[in-house]
Amino acid sequence: MSSADIAVKTFLELEPEDLRVLQAIELAMAKHAHVPEAKIPKLANLNREETAFRTTRLQKMRLIRGWHGPYVGFVLNMAGYDALAINALVKADVLQAFGKPLGVGKEADVYEALTPKNKQVAVKFHRLGRTSFRQTRRKRGYIAERMHTSWLYQSRLAAEKEYEALKLLHAQKVAVPKPLAQNRHTIVMSMIDGAEISEFDDVPDADKILKEILKNLHAAYVKANIIHADLSEYNIILQPNGRILIIDWPQYVKRNHPNAEFLLERDLRNVLGFFKRKFNVDFGFEKALLYVKKEH
Ligand SMILES: Nc1ncnc2c1ncn2[C@@H]1O[C@H](COP(=O)(O)OP(=O)(O)O)[C@@H](O)[C@H]1O
Ligand SMILES: [Mg+2]
Repeated sequence: MSSADIAVKTFLELEPEDLRVLQAIELAMAKHAHVPEAKIPKLANLNREETAFRTTRLQKMRLIRGWHGPYVGFVLNMAGYDALAINALVKADVLQAFGKPLGVGKEADVYEALTPKNKQVAVKFHRLGRTSFRQTRRKRGYIAERMHTSWLYQSRLAAEKEYEALKLLHAQKVAVPKPLAQNRHTIVMSMIDGAEISEFDDVPDADKILKEILKNLHAAYVKANIIHADLSEYNIILQPNGRILIIDWPQYVKRNHPNAEFLLERDLRNVLGFFKRKFNVDFGFEKALLYVKKEH
């Protein structure tokens, strides 16, 4: 079960006191690798007995994890962070219900969800720092100072960055999902239909599809000032209507980034290489590069 599964399943059972304890732990994690149990009552504005009851409950729900060292402490699990984001988005009238997973990947879990107006949307939970966190612990046998908040911080930063990119791109009519809301490590965007172009063995008009991709990369580059920087056949969606969408933008860079040129060229080589290999369409690298950078 992914952490979002846990959060979605337990979310409806959460009471205001549970949420206050989760929020208190989230807040104190900026300072403590393990939030001392003794600090929670004040931060959550609950008495000690109530706090103990809530932390036991939240541990059973797998939203937090206990730690027994020189003192007793707690940390938020990824599922606890998910629950806080879901709560905020529900309170803000962005989300009403969750549906099935759309894509559970290495760096994000994407779910389908419904808005209060019954519109289908996609919710992407960013997951960063999970593996590096574990590796660091395994390799060095200790957790570096501040590492405890890194997954929280990195995941939130990725969501903020992707949301920003989607807003800039969508405003310039680049073919991306429409950004709807963001909270913590989570973004809500329009639901898209279709599949990664990597999934297709054959497409009608592959050269037209490639041209449309290049047209969008051009608009992203010239109008929005943005280079994807993680582009491949896995981040290009082919919709049933034959149009494409480019997804997964948290790694984007601006044109003035020191590696901008290198990253743009790598993006292009990935896409062109895929089209040549799979659909035998050869656009030519230099021509594609000139086209994407053309200033008008
Ligand atoms: N707006 C969306 N609507 C429907 N499915 C989506 C949407 N965004 C992403 N997905 C699905 O989730 C998968 C993972 O999303 P992506 O943004 O590429 O994150 P990552 O590759 O970092 O895990 C995508 O390949 C796609 O199948
Ligand atoms: Mg992806």
